[in-house]
Amino acid sequence: MPIAIAFALALIFAPLSHADAVATAPHKGAIASAYPLASEAGQEILAAGGNAFDAAVAVSAALAVVEPSSSGLGGGGFYLLHRQADGLETMVDAREKAPGAATREMYLDKAGNEIQNASTSGPLSSAIPGEPAAFDYLSRKYGKLTLKRTLAPAIRLAREGFPLYARLQFGIRYKQKILAQSPEAAKAFLMPDGSVPEVGFIIKQPELATTLEAIAAQGAKGFYQGRVAADLVAGVRAGGGIWTLDDLKSYRVIERKPLVGEYHGARIVSASPPSSGGVALIDSLNILEGFDLHAVDSATRKHLIIEAMRRAYRDRAIYLGDPDFVRMPLEQLTSVDYAAGQRSSIRADKAMPSDFLPGIESEPGGTQTTHFSALDSAGNRVAATISINLFFGNGYMPAKTGVLLNNTMDDFSTKPGQPNAFGLVGAKANAIAPNKRSLSSMTPSFVETSKGLMIVGSPGGSTIISMVLLGTLNYLDGMDASDIVKYPRYHHQYLPDVVDYEAGALTDAEIAELKSMGHTLKESTRQWGNMQVVTWDFASGKVEAASDPRGEGEGLIY
Ligand code: DON
Repeated sequence: MPIAIAFALALIFAPLSHADAVATAPHKGAIASAYPLASEAGQEILAAGGNAFDAAVAVSAALAVVEPSSSGLGGGGFYLLHRQADGLETMVDAREKAPGAATREMYLDKAGNEIQNASTSGPLSSAIPGEPAAFDYLSRKYGKLTLKRTLAPAIRLAREGFPLYARLQFGIRYKQKILAQSPEAAKAFLMPDGSVPEVGFIIKQPELATTLEAIAAQGAKGFYQGRVAADLVAGVRAGGGIWTLDDLKSYRVIERKPLVGEYHGARIVSASPPSSGGVALIDSLNILEGFDLHAVDSATRKHLIIEAMRRAYRDRAIYLGDPDFVRMPLEQLTSVDYAAGQRSSIRADKAMPSDFLPGIESEPGGTQTTHFSALDSAGNRVAATISINLFFGNGYMPAKTGVLLNNTMDDFSTKPGQPNAFGLVGAKANAIAPNKRSLSSMTPSFVETSKGLMIVGSPGGSTIISMVLLGTLNYLDGMDASDIVKYPRYHHQYLPDVVDYEAGALTDAEIAELKSMGHTLKESTRQWGNMQVVTWDFASGKVEAASDPRGEGEGLIY
Protein backbone atom coordinates (compact mmCIF):
# COMPACT_ATOMS: atom_id res chain seq x y z
CA MET A 1 0.00 0.00 0.00
CA PRO A 2 1.37 3.47 -0.81
CA ILE A 3 2.64 5.20 2.30
CA ALA A 4 0.36 8.22 1.84
CA ILE A 5 -2.75 6.05 1.82
CA ALA A 6 -1.52 4.05 4.78
CA PHE A 7 -0.99 7.23 6.71
CA ALA A 8 -4.43 8.50 5.81
CA LEU A 9 -5.87 5.22 7.08
CA ALA A 10 -3.90 5.51 10.28
CA LEU A 11 -5.31 8.99 10.82
CA ILE A 12 -8.94 8.01 10.43
CA PHE A 13 -8.68 5.41 13.17
CA ALA A 14 -10.78 7.09 15.82
CA PRO A 15 -9.41 7.12 19.37
CA LEU A 16 -10.72 4.05 21.03
CA SER A 17 -11.54 2.91 24.47
CA HIS A 18 -12.19 -0.76 24.84
CA ALA A 19 -15.55 0.00 26.35
CA ASP A 20 -16.61 1.42 22.98
CA ALA A 21 -19.06 -0.92 21.40
CA VAL A 22 -17.69 -1.76 18.00
CA ALA A 23 -20.18 -3.11 15.51
CA THR A 24 -18.72 -6.33 14.25
CA ALA A 25 -19.78 -8.73 11.54
CA PRO A 26 -19.96 -12.44 12.40
CA HIS A 27 -16.51 -13.89 12.19
CA LYS A 28 -14.61 -17.10 12.64
CA GLY A 29 -12.03 -18.09 15.21
CA ALA A 30 -8.35 -18.16 14.33
CA ILE A 31 -5.18 -19.59 15.81
CA ALA A 32 -1.58 -18.97 14.76
CA SER A 33 1.09 -21.02 16.51
CA ALA A 34 4.61 -22.24 15.93
CA TYR A 35 3.61 -25.74 14.78
CA PRO A 36 0.62 -27.08 12.82
CA LEU A 37 -0.17 -29.87 15.32
CA ALA A 38 -0.49 -27.25 18.08
CA SER A 39 -2.75 -25.00 15.99
CA GLU A 40 -4.84 -28.10 15.23
CA ALA A 41 -5.08 -28.96 18.93
CA GLY A 42 -6.58 -25.51 19.50
CA GLN A 43 -8.92 -25.91 16.57
CA GLU A 44 -10.10 -29.27 17.95
CA ILE A 45 -10.97 -27.59 21.23
CA LEU A 46 -12.85 -24.71 19.54
CA ALA A 47 -14.77 -27.31 17.51
CA ALA A 48 -15.62 -29.14 20.75
CA GLY A 49 -17.32 -25.99 22.08
CA GLY A 50 -14.36 -24.53 23.95
CA ASN A 51 -13.54 -20.83 23.96
CA ALA A 52 -10.22 -19.10 23.18
CA PHE A 53 -9.06 -19.67 26.77
CA ASP A 54 -9.67 -23.43 26.52
CA ALA A 55 -7.87 -23.35 23.17
CA ALA A 56 -4.96 -21.55 24.83
CA VAL A 57 -4.55 -24.44 27.28
CA ALA A 58 -4.74 -26.98 24.45
CA VAL A 59 -2.25 -25.09 22.25
CA SER A 60 0.23 -24.54 25.10
CA ALA A 61 0.10 -28.19 26.15
CA ALA A 62 0.47 -29.38 22.55
CA LEU A 63 3.45 -27.05 22.08
CA ALA A 64 5.02 -28.58 25.19
CA VAL A 65 4.92 -31.90 23.33
CA VAL A 66 5.64 -30.98 19.70
CA GLU A 67 7.91 -27.97 20.25
CA PRO A 68 9.71 -29.08 23.45
CA SER A 69 12.69 -26.90 22.60
CA SER A 70 10.75 -23.73 23.19
CA SER A 71 8.26 -24.02 26.05
CA GLY A 72 6.71 -26.64 28.26
CA LEU A 73 5.47 -27.78 31.66
CA GLY A 74 8.92 -27.00 33.05
CA GLY A 75 8.65 -23.32 32.04
CA GLY A 76 6.26 -20.42 32.18
CA GLY A 77 5.04 -17.34 30.42
CA PHE A 78 2.40 -14.68 30.09
CA TYR A 79 -1.18 -15.09 28.90
CA LEU A 80 -2.82 -11.85 27.84
CA LEU A 81 -6.58 -12.31 27.77
CA HIS A 82 -9.55 -10.36 26.50
CA ARG A 83 -13.03 -11.57 27.38
CA GLN A 84 -15.52 -10.24 24.90
CA ALA A 85 -18.69 -10.50 27.02
CA ASP A 86 -17.60 -7.81 29.47
CA GLY A 87 -14.44 -6.39 27.88
CA LEU A 88 -12.26 -7.73 30.70
CA GLU A 89 -8.58 -7.46 29.89
CA THR A 90 -6.14 -9.25 32.13
CA MET A 91 -2.76 -10.90 32.16
CA VAL A 92 -2.17 -14.28 33.75
CA ASP A 93 1.43 -14.08 34.95
CA ALA A 94 2.69 -17.67 34.90
CA ARG A 95 6.31 -16.61 34.98
CA GLU A 96 8.68 -18.95 36.80
CA LYS A 97 9.78 -17.83 40.27
CA ALA A 98 13.17 -18.25 41.90
CA PRO A 99 13.42 -21.13 44.39
CA GLY A 100 13.16 -20.14 48.06
CA ALA A 101 16.84 -20.96 48.59
CA ALA A 102 18.01 -18.71 45.75
CA THR A 103 20.49 -15.98 46.65
CA ARG A 104 21.74 -12.92 44.89
CA GLU A 105 25.27 -14.33 44.61
CA MET A 106 24.32 -17.88 43.67
CA TYR A 107 26.05 -17.71 40.26
CA LEU A 108 29.17 -15.88 41.48
CA ASP A 109 32.45 -17.29 42.80
CA LYS A 110 34.08 -16.21 46.05
CA ALA A 111 35.79 -13.32 44.29
CA GLY A 112 32.40 -12.10 43.04
CA ASN A 113 33.00 -13.11 39.44
CA GLU A 114 30.34 -14.84 37.42
CA ILE A 115 30.82 -18.62 37.21
CA GLN A 116 30.61 -19.35 33.52
CA ASN A 117 27.33 -20.92 32.38
CA ALA A 118 26.15 -21.39 35.97
CA SER A 119 22.87 -19.60 35.35
CA THR A 120 22.11 -21.53 32.16
CA SER A 121 23.31 -25.11 32.83
CA GLY A 122 21.90 -27.87 34.98
CA PRO A 123 18.99 -27.71 37.42
CA LEU A 124 20.59 -24.94 39.47
CA SER A 125 19.57 -22.68 36.57
CA SER A 126 15.91 -23.65 36.86
CA ALA A 127 13.21 -21.54 38.41
CA ILE A 128 9.92 -22.97 39.66
CA PRO A 129 7.65 -23.55 36.63
CA GLY A 130 4.40 -21.68 36.10
CA GLU A 131 2.82 -23.20 33.01
CA PRO A 132 0.94 -26.10 34.66
CA ALA A 133 -0.58 -23.67 37.17
CA ALA A 134 -1.71 -21.49 34.27
CA PHE A 135 -3.53 -24.44 32.69
CA ASP A 136 -5.50 -25.02 35.86
CA TYR A 137 -6.21 -21.33 36.39
CA LEU A 138 -7.21 -20.56 32.79
CA SER A 139 -9.42 -23.57 32.67
CA ARG A 140 -11.21 -23.00 35.97
CA LYS A 141 -11.57 -19.25 35.78
CA TYR A 142 -12.05 -18.53 32.08
CA GLY A 143 -12.62 -21.77 30.21
CA LYS A 144 -15.75 -23.76 29.44
CA LEU A 145 -14.26 -27.22 29.15
CA THR A 146 -12.47 -29.48 31.63
CA LEU A 147 -8.70 -29.93 31.65
CA LYS A 148 -9.38 -33.53 30.80
CA ARG A 149 -10.83 -32.36 27.50
CA THR A 150 -8.41 -29.54 26.72
CA LEU A 151 -5.30 -31.59 27.53
CA ALA A 152 -6.50 -34.59 25.52
CA PRO A 153 -4.84 -33.58 22.22
CA ALA A 154 -1.47 -33.04 23.95
CA ILE A 155 -1.72 -36.33 25.84
CA ARG A 156 -2.47 -38.10 22.56
CA LEU A 157 0.51 -36.44 20.85
CA ALA A 158 2.82 -37.33 23.73
CA ARG A 159 1.68 -40.93 23.94
CA GLU A 160 1.23 -41.79 20.27
CA GLY A 161 4.08 -39.55 19.12
CA PHE A 162 4.54 -37.17 16.23
CA PRO A 163 6.98 -37.16 13.31
CA LEU A 164 10.21 -35.23 13.91
CA TYR A 165 10.40 -32.14 11.70
CA ALA A 166 13.45 -30.27 10.39
CA ARG A 167 13.38 -27.31 12.74
CA LEU A 168 13.10 -29.46 15.86
CA GLN A 169 15.79 -31.78 14.50
CA PHE A 170 18.02 -28.73 14.13
CA GLY A 171 17.41 -27.87 17.80
CA ILE A 172 18.16 -31.42 18.93
CA ARG A 173 21.40 -31.42 16.94
CA TYR A 174 22.33 -28.04 18.38
CA LYS A 175 21.83 -29.29 21.94
CA GLN A 176 22.84 -32.95 21.32
CA LYS A 177 25.74 -32.95 23.81
CA ILE A 178 23.72 -31.37 26.57
CA LEU A 179 20.68 -33.60 26.02
CA ALA A 180 23.03 -36.62 26.07
CA GLN A 181 24.08 -35.69 29.62
CA SER A 182 20.53 -36.14 30.94
CA PRO A 183 19.54 -39.82 30.49
CA GLU A 184 15.83 -38.98 30.50
CA ALA A 185 16.17 -36.18 27.94
CA ALA A 186 18.38 -38.44 25.82
CA LYS A 187 15.71 -41.16 25.97
CA ALA A 188 13.10 -38.69 24.76
CA PHE A 189 15.01 -36.94 21.98
CA LEU A 190 18.03 -39.03 20.92
CA MET A 191 18.39 -42.50 19.42
CA PRO A 192 19.65 -45.29 21.75
CA ASP A 193 23.17 -44.85 20.27
CA GLY A 194 23.05 -41.13 21.11
CA SER A 195 22.59 -39.96 17.52
CA VAL A 196 20.01 -37.43 16.34
CA PRO A 197 16.84 -39.05 14.93
CA GLU A 198 15.97 -38.60 11.25
CA VAL A 199 13.21 -36.27 10.14
CA GLY A 200 10.00 -38.31 10.20
CA PHE A 201 11.09 -40.42 13.19
CA ILE A 202 8.15 -40.72 15.62
CA ILE A 203 8.97 -38.93 18.88
CA LYS A 204 7.01 -40.47 21.75
CA GLN A 205 7.05 -39.04 25.27
CA PRO A 206 5.10 -41.49 27.47
CA GLU A 207 6.30 -39.98 30.74
CA LEU A 208 5.23 -36.53 29.65
CA ALA A 209 1.85 -38.03 28.74
CA THR A 210 1.57 -39.41 32.28
CA THR A 211 2.45 -36.04 33.81
CA LEU A 212 -0.13 -34.33 31.59
CA GLU A 213 -2.68 -36.95 32.68
CA ALA A 214 -1.96 -36.14 36.32
CA ILE A 215 -2.70 -32.46 35.58
CA ALA A 216 -5.83 -33.42 33.63
CA ALA A 217 -7.07 -35.46 36.59
CA GLN A 218 -6.03 -33.28 39.54
CA GLY A 219 -5.37 -29.82 38.11
CA ALA A 220 -2.31 -27.95 39.39
CA LYS A 221 -2.01 -30.40 42.28
CA GLY A 222 -1.18 -33.14 39.81
CA PHE A 223 2.08 -31.31 39.08
CA TYR A 224 2.91 -29.24 42.14
CA GLN A 225 2.10 -31.90 44.76
CA GLY A 226 2.19 -35.67 45.02
CA ARG A 227 4.16 -38.09 42.88
CA VAL A 228 5.16 -35.72 40.05
CA ALA A 229 6.34 -33.02 42.48
CA ALA A 230 8.39 -35.56 44.44
CA ASP A 231 10.03 -36.82 41.24
CA LEU A 232 10.74 -33.28 40.07
CA VAL A 233 12.38 -32.26 43.34
CA ALA A 234 14.37 -35.51 43.57
CA GLY A 235 15.61 -35.10 39.99
CA VAL A 236 16.48 -31.43 40.43
CA ARG A 237 18.39 -32.04 43.65
CA ALA A 238 20.22 -35.04 42.17
CA GLY A 239 21.44 -32.67 39.46
CA GLY A 240 22.66 -30.02 41.90
CA GLY A 241 19.53 -27.87 42.05
CA ILE A 242 17.87 -26.35 45.11
CA TRP A 243 14.12 -26.88 44.61
CA THR A 244 12.00 -27.97 47.54
CA LEU A 245 8.54 -29.50 47.71
CA ASP A 246 7.37 -26.31 49.32
CA ASP A 247 8.65 -24.22 46.39
CA LEU A 248 6.38 -26.21 44.11
CA LYS A 249 3.42 -26.31 46.45
CA SER A 250 3.49 -22.57 46.99
CA TYR A 251 3.68 -21.59 43.30
CA ARG A 252 0.74 -19.43 42.20
CA VAL A 253 -0.02 -17.62 38.99
CA ILE A 254 -0.72 -13.92 39.52
CA GLU A 255 -3.35 -12.03 37.64
CA ARG A 256 -2.09 -8.58 36.74
CA LYS A 257 -3.44 -5.56 34.96
CA PRO A 258 -2.00 -5.35 31.46
CA LEU A 259 -0.33 -2.13 30.40
CA VAL A 260 -2.40 0.04 28.13
CA GLY A 261 -1.16 2.77 25.81
CA GLU A 262 -2.41 4.69 22.83
CA TYR A 263 -0.70 5.39 19.54
CA HIS A 264 -2.39 7.56 16.92
CA GLY A 265 -5.77 6.49 18.28
CA ALA A 266 -4.95 2.78 18.40
CA ARG A 267 -5.20 1.03 21.73
CA ILE A 268 -2.14 -0.99 22.70
CA VAL A 269 -2.63 -3.65 25.38
CA SER A 270 0.51 -5.46 26.38
CA ALA A 271 2.36 -7.42 29.04
CA SER A 272 3.07 -5.67 32.34
CA PRO A 273 6.01 -6.42 34.66
CA PRO A 274 7.62 -8.81 35.38
CA SER A 275 7.74 -8.52 31.62
CA SER A 276 9.50 -5.46 30.28
CA GLY A 277 7.68 -5.88 26.96
CA GLY A 278 4.69 -3.62 27.44
CA VAL A 279 6.65 -0.82 29.11
CA ALA A 280 9.26 -0.75 26.34
CA LEU A 281 6.66 -1.11 23.57
CA ILE A 282 4.47 1.69 24.88
CA ASP A 283 7.42 3.95 25.66
CA SER A 284 8.80 3.41 22.11
CA LEU A 285 5.41 4.24 20.58
CA ASN A 286 5.02 7.30 22.79
CA ILE A 287 8.41 8.55 21.63
CA LEU A 288 7.51 7.89 17.98
CA GLU A 289 4.09 9.50 18.15
CA GLY A 290 5.72 12.92 18.13
CA PHE A 291 7.35 12.32 14.76
CA ASP A 292 5.59 12.18 11.43
CA LEU A 293 7.08 8.87 10.33
CA HIS A 294 5.39 9.11 6.94
CA ALA A 295 6.73 12.53 6.10
CA VAL A 296 10.38 11.50 6.26
CA ASP A 297 12.51 9.33 3.97
CA SER A 298 12.79 5.63 4.82
CA ALA A 299 16.30 5.83 6.32
CA THR A 300 15.23 8.63 8.66
CA ARG A 301 12.12 6.68 9.60
CA LYS A 302 14.25 3.66 10.53
CA HIS A 303 16.72 5.89 12.34
CA LEU A 304 13.94 7.38 14.48
CA ILE A 305 12.55 3.92 15.28
CA ILE A 306 16.06 2.73 16.25
CA GLU A 307 16.55 5.77 18.49
CA ALA A 308 13.22 5.03 20.20
CA MET A 309 14.32 1.39 20.76
CA ARG A 310 17.64 2.58 22.23
CA ARG A 311 15.89 4.70 24.84
CA ALA A 312 13.20 2.18 25.75
CA TYR A 313 15.73 -0.68 26.18
CA ARG A 314 17.85 1.55 28.38
CA ASP A 315 14.99 2.09 30.77
CA ARG A 316 14.31 -1.63 30.74
CA ALA A 317 17.88 -2.27 31.93
CA ILE A 318 17.77 0.30 34.67
CA TYR A 319 14.34 0.25 36.20
CA LEU A 320 12.48 -2.99 35.62
CA GLY A 321 12.03 -6.15 37.65
CA ASP A 322 9.36 -8.11 39.52
CA PRO A 323 6.62 -5.69 40.68
CA ASP A 324 6.17 -7.70 43.89
CA PHE A 325 9.77 -6.92 44.85
CA VAL A 326 10.73 -3.57 43.37
CA ARG A 327 9.06 -0.25 42.96
CA MET A 328 9.11 0.92 39.41
CA PRO A 329 8.27 4.30 37.94
CA LEU A 330 5.78 2.73 35.55
CA GLU A 331 3.59 5.76 35.29
CA GLN A 332 6.58 7.87 34.36
CA LEU A 333 8.00 5.32 31.90
CA THR A 334 4.71 5.01 30.02
CA SER A 335 3.73 8.67 30.15
CA VAL A 336 3.66 10.83 27.05
CA ASP A 337 5.43 13.64 28.89
CA TYR A 338 8.36 11.41 29.78
CA ALA A 339 8.48 10.23 26.15
CA ALA A 340 8.50 13.86 25.03
CA GLY A 341 11.65 14.36 27.09
CA GLN A 342 13.25 11.31 25.52
CA ARG A 343 12.19 12.51 22.07
CA SER A 344 13.83 15.88 22.60
CA SER A 345 17.22 14.17 22.80
CA ILE A 346 16.77 12.57 19.36
CA ARG A 347 18.27 14.30 16.33
CA ALA A 348 16.79 13.45 12.95
CA ASP A 349 20.20 13.36 11.31
CA LYS A 350 22.46 11.76 13.85
CA ALA A 351 22.66 8.65 16.02
CA MET A 352 23.21 9.23 19.71
CA PRO A 353 25.78 6.87 21.19
CA SER A 354 24.22 4.78 23.98
CA ASP A 355 27.06 5.92 26.26
CA PHE A 356 25.61 9.43 26.13
CA LEU A 357 22.51 8.20 27.92
CA PRO A 358 23.12 7.92 31.62
CA GLY A 359 22.84 4.29 32.58
CA ILE A 360 24.48 0.90 32.94
CA GLU A 361 25.88 -4.90 27.61
CA SER A 362 25.02 -7.83 24.48
CA GLU A 363 23.34 -10.39 20.97
CA PRO A 364 19.91 -10.77 19.56
CA GLY A 365 17.85 -13.72 20.69
CA GLY A 366 17.14 -16.77 18.61
CA THR A 367 13.92 -18.64 18.20
CA GLN A 368 13.53 -20.55 21.42
CA THR A 369 10.40 -19.69 23.39
CA THR A 370 7.09 -19.70 21.56
CA HIS A 371 4.11 -17.47 20.99
CA PHE A 372 0.56 -18.14 19.84
CA SER A 373 -2.36 -15.89 19.09
CA ALA A 374 -5.95 -17.07 19.36
CA LEU A 375 -9.38 -15.59 18.69
CA ASP A 376 -12.70 -17.40 19.00
CA SER A 377 -15.91 -16.65 17.14
CA ALA A 378 -17.28 -14.85 20.21
CA GLY A 379 -14.40 -12.36 20.10
CA ASN A 380 -12.46 -13.72 23.10
CA ARG A 381 -8.76 -13.48 22.50
CA VAL A 382 -5.46 -14.71 23.85
CA ALA A 383 -1.91 -13.60 23.16
CA ALA A 384 0.44 -16.00 24.94
CA THR A 385 4.21 -16.10 24.97
CA ILE A 386 5.59 -19.08 26.88
CA SER A 387 9.12 -20.31 27.39
CA ILE A 388 11.71 -22.51 29.01
CA ASN A 389 14.25 -19.79 28.08
CA LEU A 390 17.06 -21.23 25.93
CA PHE A 391 16.68 -24.10 23.41
CA PHE A 392 15.47 -27.12 25.44
CA GLY A 393 15.94 -24.99 28.59
CA ASN A 394 18.94 -26.44 30.37
CA GLY A 395 18.33 -29.79 28.66
CA TYR A 396 17.80 -31.58 31.97
CA MET A 397 14.83 -33.87 32.54
CA PRO A 398 14.16 -35.24 36.03
CA ALA A 399 13.46 -38.98 35.89
CA LYS A 400 9.88 -40.21 35.42
CA THR A 401 8.48 -36.75 34.68
CA GLY A 402 8.98 -36.14 30.97
CA VAL A 403 9.49 -32.49 31.97
CA LEU A 404 12.38 -30.50 30.53
CA LEU A 405 13.59 -27.85 32.94
CA ASN A 406 13.86 -24.15 32.19
CA ASN A 407 16.97 -22.02 32.71
CA THR A 408 15.01 -18.86 33.30
CA MET A 409 17.19 -17.93 36.28
CA ASP A 410 19.49 -16.50 33.58
CA ASP A 411 16.93 -13.77 32.96
CA PHE A 412 17.87 -12.30 36.33
CA SER A 413 20.71 -9.85 36.40
CA THR A 414 23.20 -12.23 38.05
CA LYS A 415 25.54 -9.30 38.65
CA PRO A 416 24.97 -5.61 37.83
CA GLY A 417 26.11 -4.92 34.28
CA GLN A 418 26.79 -8.62 33.54
CA PRO A 419 25.13 -9.43 30.19
CA ASN A 420 22.86 -12.50 30.16
CA ALA A 421 22.45 -14.98 27.29
CA PHE A 422 20.75 -12.25 25.27
CA GLY A 423 23.39 -9.68 26.09
CA LEU A 424 20.87 -7.84 28.23
CA VAL A 425 22.16 -6.02 31.24
CA GLY A 426 20.22 -5.19 34.34
CA ALA A 427 20.44 -3.43 37.63
CA LYS A 428 19.35 -4.06 41.20
CA ALA A 429 15.69 -4.12 40.23
CA ASN A 430 16.29 -7.45 38.50
CA ALA A 431 18.69 -8.97 41.05
CA ILE A 432 17.98 -12.52 42.29
CA ALA A 433 15.88 -12.95 45.43
CA PRO A 434 14.00 -15.94 46.81
CA ASN A 435 10.58 -16.42 45.15
CA LYS A 436 11.14 -13.49 42.80
CA ARG A 437 10.25 -13.58 39.10
CA SER A 438 13.02 -12.67 36.64
CA LEU A 439 12.47 -9.83 34.20
CA SER A 440 11.21 -10.98 30.82
CA SER A 441 11.10 -9.49 27.32
CA MET A 442 8.07 -11.50 26.29
CA THR A 443 5.52 -9.12 24.76
CA PRO A 444 2.15 -10.71 24.02
CA SER A 445 0.00 -7.80 22.81
CA PHE A 446 -3.30 -6.66 21.37
CA VAL A 447 -3.37 -3.68 19.02
CA GLU A 448 -6.89 -2.40 18.52
CA THR A 449 -8.32 0.39 16.39
CA SER A 450 -11.89 1.31 15.60
CA LYS A 451 -11.54 -0.81 12.45
CA GLY A 452 -9.92 -3.95 13.68
CA LEU A 453 -7.57 -5.82 15.86
CA MET A 454 -4.22 -7.57 15.82
CA ILE A 455 -3.12 -10.26 18.30
CA VAL A 456 0.66 -10.46 18.19
CA GLY A 457 3.83 -11.78 19.81
CA SER A 458 7.02 -13.70 19.14
CA PRO A 459 9.93 -15.51 20.74
CA GLY A 460 13.40 -14.00 20.32
CA GLY A 461 14.77 -12.99 23.72
CA SER A 462 15.74 -9.36 23.76
CA THR A 463 14.55 -8.86 20.15
CA ILE A 464 10.93 -9.62 21.02
CA ILE A 465 10.10 -6.06 21.95
CA SER A 466 11.55 -4.51 18.80
CA MET A 467 9.76 -7.13 16.67
CA VAL A 468 6.40 -6.37 18.26
CA LEU A 469 7.08 -2.65 17.82
CA LEU A 470 7.75 -3.11 14.08
CA GLY A 471 4.69 -5.38 13.81
CA THR A 472 2.52 -2.75 15.48
CA LEU A 473 3.71 0.05 13.20
CA ASN A 474 3.20 -2.19 10.16
CA TYR A 475 -0.31 -3.22 11.21
CA LEU A 476 -1.28 0.41 11.72
CA ASP A 477 0.13 1.16 8.27
CA GLY A 478 -2.37 -1.29 6.80
CA MET A 479 -0.08 -4.28 6.27
CA ASP A 480 -1.85 -7.66 6.32
CA ALA A 481 -1.03 -10.48 8.72
CA SER A 482 1.16 -12.51 6.35
CA ASP A 483 3.29 -9.47 5.46
CA ILE A 484 3.61 -8.46 9.11
CA VAL A 485 5.13 -11.82 10.08
CA LYS A 486 7.40 -11.82 7.02
CA TYR A 487 8.73 -8.28 7.41
CA PRO A 488 12.57 -8.12 7.63
CA ARG A 489 13.68 -7.04 11.12
CA TYR A 490 16.11 -4.58 12.63
CA HIS A 491 16.88 -4.15 16.31
CA HIS A 492 18.67 -1.96 18.81
CA GLN A 493 18.76 -2.79 22.53
CA TYR A 494 20.75 0.15 23.96
CA LEU A 495 23.80 -1.98 24.69
CA PRO A 496 25.68 -3.09 22.75
CA ASP A 497 25.37 0.11 20.76
CA VAL A 498 24.73 -1.68 17.47
CA VAL A 499 21.82 -1.97 15.04
CA ASP A 500 21.40 -5.65 14.19
CA TYR A 501 19.48 -6.31 11.00
CA GLU A 502 18.30 -9.24 8.96
CA ALA A 503 19.32 -9.51 5.30
CA GLY A 504 16.93 -7.33 3.35
CA ALA A 505 15.82 -5.16 6.28
CA LEU A 506 17.85 -2.18 5.07
CA THR A 507 18.50 -1.11 1.50
CA ASP A 508 22.03 -0.14 0.42
CA ALA A 509 20.94 3.50 0.42
CA GLU A 510 19.51 3.20 3.94
CA ILE A 511 22.69 1.49 5.14
CA ALA A 512 24.80 4.31 3.74
CA GLU A 513 22.57 6.96 5.28
CA LEU A 514 22.31 5.30 8.69
CA LYS A 515 26.10 4.90 8.79
CA SER A 516 26.56 8.54 7.93
CA MET A 517 24.30 9.40 10.88
CA GLY A 518 26.70 7.52 13.14
CA HIS A 519 24.96 4.15 13.57
CA THR A 520 27.03 0.99 13.84
CA LEU A 521 25.28 -1.63 11.72
CA LYS A 522 25.67 -5.39 11.87
CA GLU A 523 23.97 -7.65 9.35
CA SER A 524 22.90 -10.78 11.18
CA THR A 525 24.02 -14.11 9.75
CA ARG A 526 20.62 -15.48 10.63
CA GLN A 527 17.00 -14.44 10.96
CA TRP A 528 15.26 -14.11 14.27
CA GLY A 529 11.80 -14.46 15.74
CA ASN A 530 8.80 -16.68 15.05
CA MET A 531 5.94 -14.24 15.07
CA GLN A 532 2.34 -15.44 15.20
CA VAL A 533 -0.35 -12.96 14.23
CA VAL A 534 -4.13 -13.04 14.13
CA THR A 535 -5.99 -10.06 12.67
CA TRP A 536 -9.70 -9.34 12.65
CA ASP A 537 -11.44 -6.73 10.54
CA PHE A 538 -14.54 -5.66 12.44
CA ALA A 539 -16.69 -4.45 9.55
CA SER A 540 -16.22 -7.39 7.20
CA GLY A 541 -15.66 -10.07 9.84
CA LYS A 542 -12.55 -11.17 7.96
CA VAL A 543 -9.97 -12.88 10.14
CA GLU A 544 -6.43 -13.80 9.16
CA ALA A 545 -3.98 -16.07 10.98
CA ALA A 546 -0.37 -15.87 9.87
CA SER A 547 2.67 -17.74 11.05
CA ASP A 548 6.22 -16.47 10.57
CA PRO A 549 7.81 -18.00 7.45
CA ARG A 550 11.06 -18.19 9.45
CA GLY A 551 9.46 -21.07 11.38
CA GLU A 552 7.27 -24.08 10.57
CA GLY A 553 4.07 -22.82 12.16
CA GLU A 554 0.57 -22.57 10.83
CA GLY A 555 -2.31 -20.16 11.05
CA LEU A 556 -5.72 -21.79 11.03
CA ILE A 557 -9.18 -20.29 10.71
CA TYR A 558 -12.00 -22.17 12.35
O1 DON B 1 11.56 -14.09 29.17
C1 DON B 1 12.43 -13.79 28.38
O2 DON B 1 12.63 -12.66 27.99
C2 DON B 1 13.31 -14.89 27.80
N1 DON B 1 13.36 -16.01 28.73
C3 DON B 1 12.73 -15.28 26.48
C4 DON B 1 13.64 -16.28 25.82
C5 DON B 1 13.45 -16.33 24.37
O3 DON B 1 12.66 -15.66 23.77
C6 DON B 1 14.37 -17.26 23.68
N2 DON B 1 14.28 -17.04 22.26
N3 DON B 1 15.15 -16.71 21.58
